[in-house]
Amino acid sequence: MKIHHVGYLVKKIDKAAEEFEKLGYIRRGDITVDTYRKVDILFLEKDGYVVELVSPNAPDSVVSGLIKTYKNAPYHICYESTAFREDLERLTQNGYVQIDQPAPAPAIGNREVVFLLNSRLGMIELLS
Ligand code: NI
Repeated sequence: MKIHHVGYLVKKIDKAAEEFEKLGYIRRGDITVDTYRKVDILFLEKDGYVVELVSPNAPDSVVSGLIKTYKNAPYHICYESTAFREDLERLTQNGYVQIDQPAPAPAIGNREVVFLLNSRLGMIELLS
């Protein structure tokens, strides 16, 4: 598995993007609306590192609860997998709890993603 991006929760995606740009990050594409998860998403890149800004766009967004706890903060690392089903099975057999079903991510070319929780390191995302 290779690191694909760091997911970063933000309350106001435009304002947050402007702050990242001041630090030298470059936008990768436009804001994508994920209607399934009810979030707005924008990727930015600096020095080869990719940050994904995630902001709820409805009260029942998948991150509405998280943003109350974390406010503006990183909250997951996404790992790209060349053996998605095998890696998912291995992780769930080794202390990771799958918290949703694999589903297409519109912001990443509709590639399948799934989220998992580990009691010792928090949330990760697996990308096919
Ligand atoms: Ni992500």
